[in-house]
Amino acid sequence: MYGVFASVIVQLAEQHGEPYQSFPVDMMRYGAGGTGGSGSLCGALNGAAALFGLFAQSEEQTKQFISELFLWYEQKELPAFVPRKPILDVEVPLSVSDSVLCHVSVTRWAETSGYKAFSKPRKERCRRLTADTAKRAVEILNTSLSGKYEAQMDMTGEVKACGSCHTKDSEMSNTRGTMSCGSCHFSLAKDHPTVQSG
Ligand code: HEC
Ligand code: HEC
Repeated sequence: MYGVFASVIVQLAEQHGEPYQSFPVDMMRYGAGGTGGSGSLCGALNGAAALFGLFAQSEEQTKQFISELFLWYEQKELPAFVPRKPILDVEVPLSVSDSVLCHVSVTRWAETSGYKAFSKPRKERCRRLTADTAKRAVEILNTSLSGKYEAQMDMTGEVKACGSCHTKDSEMSNTRGTMSCGSCHFSLAKDHPTVQSG
């Protein structure tokens, strides 16, 4: 969270001084490890969402940008970024998280790579993922400022299908959210209605 947030704010402080100069960027360290090591929302995403909160033009736009970024994070093979001078010079395998949660994202990567969740390569993976996330967040903000923003990611058919019965404005309306449903609900009750997603 600190990595994504500070990388943008510190650059703005260098170019423009205040109010970026005195922004207490260190507060964002709480987001590490999915919020204080709890493994919930990936800190890189939390930092980017904070940037959207700061720079988007409206609440609606903040939501739109968060949705775009979170879907990107769930669906892309990451980390894509390879630094010229890596802190840890190892081959970092890519994985698809299918989740915005640190817990799931790290575990899926550990499964794919064979590295442990508290290993140095895992740390390097998260550093590179942080760079990817900062880049994507800034792309979103820059294209919106130049009036050229276009959503690239779409909610999966599954989330739409599940949501049509369970989330906002649906009949049951007994849950909320747009996270990948199947990443947690991989088995439903036998008498659950069949879901067609496409
Ligand atoms: C056609 C409407 C419909 C769709 C689409 C749908 N559900 Fe349901 N879901 C229901 C109904 C009806 C129940 C039963 C409600 C009850 O009796 O409490 C239910 C119950 C559930 C429950 C609680 C019981 C259980 O089976 O564990 C979960 C969790 C759930 N749905 C998740 C999902 C997910 C995830 C999706 C998408 C893959 C989904 N639902 C798609 C109608 C739907
Ligand atoms: C991070 C894991 C996670 C994700 C992602 C997730 N759920 Fe759940 N969901 C849960 C848990 C945990 C419960 C509580 C289960 C319980 O009470 O037995 C739950 C409960 C539910 C219920 C049951 C409500 C009831 O009355 O029994 C429904 C319906 C449901 N989720 C639908 C969805 C849909 C639709 C999505 C995708 C938009 C989704 N969930 C995404 C973890 C998740």
